[in-house]
Amino acid sequence: MATIRLLRGDITEQSVDAVVNAANSSLLGGGGVDGAIHRRGGPEILAECRALRASRYREGLPTGRAVATTAGRLPARWVIHTVGPVWSPAEDRSGQLASCYRESLRVARELGARTVAFPAVSTGAYGWPLDDGARIALRTVREETQGPGKDEAFEEIRFVLFDQRAHDAFSAAL
Ligand code: APR
Repeated sequence: MATIRLLRGDITEQSVDAVVNAANSSLLGGGGVDGAIHRRGGPEILAECRALRASRYREGLPTGRAVATTAGRLPARWVIHTVGPVWSPAEDRSGQLASCYRESLRVARELGARTVAFPAVSTGAYGWPLDDGARIALRTVREETQGPGKDEAFEEIRFVLFDQRAHDAFSAAL
């Protein structure tokens, strides 16, 4: 049965098999998690992202999808880049946010990653309310890792929360 853990910290410091990046569809970097991962992981990550843009994802990585690259100099082995939806009060994009977690776990399973660290996707620059983002994250990861016959793929799924507010929101949703 996969253990689901919450911890306060920096996702770039996690010694897990795969860390998930809150990317944008360009895959060419940004701020927040994206900026930290590229800054600390080094140029190899961007080089592989560029190669993906030149081959499989000429139009960019669509929202809700996930793709893996090397983790470069990070303590992790892979980075799984996923593109979260931008919050919209007019349109319910919850399905796209759930897809980020589901697709990232599918890619992790294909890699054979046993431990995975997620940030709170879309809850920063993309404006998703933390409580709802936490609810969707935990519900989706539970469905994907603790349902019948699904509990052998992963050892530990970690949510790495950057500040106390996020940690409180995830604790409440747990
Ligand atoms: N480790 C863990 N969590 C972090 C870190 C970090 N080093 N830095 C930021 N966070 C938290 C934020 O506080 C927020 O709760 O991760 C969550 C996601 O925030 P963002 O990184 O802004 O990601 P997102 O809201 O999905 O927006 C993605 O921002 O950085 C750009 O290129 C990125 O265009 C994309 C957009």
